[in-house]
Amino acid sequence: MDDRVISQEALNAEEERVDQGVRPLSFDDYIGQEQVKRNLRVFIEAAKMREESLDHVLLYGPPGLGKTTLAAIIANEMNVNIKTTSGPAIERPGDLAAILTTLEPGDVLFIDEIHRLNRAVEEVLYPAMEDFCLDIVIGKGTEAKSVRLDLPPFTLVGATTRAGMLSAPLRDRFGVLSRLEYYSLDELARIVQRSSQLLSFDMEQASAFELARRSRATPRIANRLLRRVRDFAQVNGVTSIAVDETSEALEQLQVDRLGLDPNDVRLLTMIAHKFNGGPVGVETMAAMVGEETETIEEVYEPYLLQIGFLQRTPRGRLLTPLAYEHFGWASQGEV
Ligand code: ADE
Repeated sequence: MDDRVISQEALNAEEERVDQGVRPLSFDDYIGQEQVKRNLRVFIEAAKMREESLDHVLLYGPPGLGKTTLAAIIANEMNVNIKTTSGPAIERPGDLAAILTTLEPGDVLFIDEIHRLNRAVEEVLYPAMEDFCLDIVIGKGTEAKSVRLDLPPFTLVGATTRAGMLSAPLRDRFGVLSRLEYYSLDELARIVQRSSQLLSFDMEQASAFELARRSRATPRIANRLLRRVRDFAQVNGVTSIAVDETSEALEQLQVDRLGLDPNDVRLLTMIAHKFNGGPVGVETMAAMVGEETETIEEVYEPYLLQIGFLQRTPRGRLLTPLAYEHFGWASQGEV
């Protein structure tokens, strides 16, 4: 594999590391996603009142917004255990059966990247979700027999960056569909301040805002940058960091005023210079920067669309005047 392509497993490990020690454990400590939280609180309270398992929940949205964190909070608030796995990790129906048969009543099964489950595994999941039972085939050929096993009631929490890639039968079996949104500047600054306190590191409010501004509206990025800024402060022998020092550290990390890193800049520069601003197809963009199409669509593009630097058109992606302005490039056609 191209070493610039980061595997999802590596990303998940990175997420664990970045979030270690700062991940909120309850809704009260979880900042932002107000609508999602408000609804989930009601569904959890109702399920507890009825002494039932919570209905299956699908969390979807761009990477780094807290889907894994929310799954853990759901389990905490329901007072049940959580078992965590991911779509690509479940290769065979037997792998899923092995997990399902270890669940206790009410437990949460969290499947990250659920859109990457294969068809055979999905088929086992349907009756498990719908009727809490497992249909397994014993033997081969004419001797094959189907046996039905009962499972305890459980809650499947699925997470995906691509709700559109889920098959309709799977999507239809979730009772709760929650879309996570990018965080506001204010929410992200509060997350930075909360995390810095947990890391015993003082950040002036203006510094927290500066860091938030450069974090692509994404807590995982904010927490990662916070740790790096803390490294700069530590080496410089300070326990609190002012806004100028924060900006300086972030410049050193090559994160620009809007949170764009050298990879984004390379991508946008190529669209401007080699394709005269587009439109350019996503496969071409991927080839230009040596990434997979999926990485462009799931990691790079959502934020660039969100800040209005890219526009989707039927003929491909188009660079907007805002992007030209940000980089100080001459208007389209003149670069
Ligand atoms: N750390 C990562 N995401 C968070 C959130 N939404 N609230 C508080 N801390 C976080």
